[in-house]
Amino acid sequence: MVDVKPVITKGLEGIYVSESAICKVDGTAGKLYYRGYSIEEIAEHSSFEEAAYLVLYGKLPTASELSAFDAALKESRALPKYVIGIIKGMVGKADTMDILRTALSAMSAEDKEVEDMSEAANLRKSARIISAIASIVATTGRLMEGKRYVKPNAKLSHAENLLYMLKGKKPRSDEARLLDVMMVLHVEHSTNASTFSTMVAGSTLSDIYSAVTAGISTLKGPLHGGADRASLRMMYSIGSPDNTENYINSALEGKQKIMGFGHRVYKTYDPRAKVMHKYLEQLSATGTEEVKNLISIAFRAENMMIEKLGKTRGIWPNVDFFSGPIYVQIGIPIDLFTPIFAASRAPGWCAHMIEYWRDNRLMRPLEYYNGDIDKEYVPMDAR
Ligand code: ACO
Repeated sequence: MVDVKPVITKGLEGIYVSESAICKVDGTAGKLYYRGYSIEEIAEHSSFEEAAYLVLYGKLPTASELSAFDAALKESRALPKYVIGIIKGMVGKADTMDILRTALSAMSAEDKEVEDMSEAANLRKSARIISAIASIVATTGRLMEGKRYVKPNAKLSHAENLLYMLKGKKPRSDEARLLDVMMVLHVEHSTNASTFSTMVAGSTLSDIYSAVTAGISTLKGPLHGGADRASLRMMYSIGSPDNTENYINSALEGKQKIMGFGHRVYKTYDPRAKVMHKYLEQLSATGTEEVKNLISIAFRAENMMIEKLGKTRGIWPNVDFFSGPIYVQIGIPIDLFTPIFAASRAPGWCAHMIEYWRDNRLMRPLEYYNGDIDKEYVPMDAR
């Protein structure tokens, strides 16, 4: 029988795998909506806590709903000793995303509801996961500097507390607001690679910790969340704004990808990058000298890339391009960029998992076998 080769859609490009009411990404118009609200509105008016609630529960919270959610987050901020020990044991040897993946996975041992697959339990676990990831990220940064674990402060907001546990002192309000906006911008982005792998893991009916751990593993790569670090490293390699055009030209001539540009869905300016752009315009007047220099490089690279590849090939700045100068301004080390992305995306991963479980179907695609069959077995001494 002739085996007819099926159509293979590499990278699942253009394939719909589910229905969802969580997030709409309009890649042509450059629009993004969380539960129907535009990202511009949410970034302007919502805190991370509110955006997380919106994505998880499907509605903007009332004051009492938000305060109950906030209390649940605060309750889970402290890390158990053994998790601090895991972080300590890995710091300096492992990538910060590997530390996060391992430490979050270990947190499941603490959670008495880990096997409870009811939606109510999964929502409670989501709040614990969101909190734990932020504390793991802050503690990783803290221990990386050889300093001691800082206990959380229940008087502070989610973003403030992350910075407090990282730096050991209360952050300035402008720094906390910048981090809060950055986290809001990263809360959710439909079925991208990391959300999809979260759903693949969860579709086996494993549990929400396993599912989110798969999401963290997937976010790490430089084609996905890891591009934020790569993009800042490039800005540092460029060094001086006047070197930007030469650097980008020779990178493109060498067929290198410019990290922080291009997107599988957006074929226009990523709306999240546009919001960041506004903050960078402000920081180009008020930021540190280092940040002002980075912003000049970023803006020159942006202009050049839009002329060269944006208008002609639809390769525009994405969410990862402008993160670097903003995080540098807040005093966040480069190794924490992608972990903070994960801390921000946790609500989106959990929301997708919970939604998918309402009508779960094991994810099991096919592959076309292109190897040999019916080969004769060769004994060891005849090979
Ligand atoms: N710089 C230069 N050229 C690029 C870039 C880029 N950043 N992105 C795409 N291209 C080119 C490719 O070289 C390819 O060219 P070719 O047709 O001449 O071979 C063409 O555009 C198509 O690129 P693909 O990688 O096949 O397109 P895909 O849909 O897979 O792209 C992706 C999406 C992976 C994000 C890509 O644009 C990329 O690698 N960008 C850099 C990494 C990055 O910024 N990732 C973060 C994305 S946002 C996020 O995940 C949070």
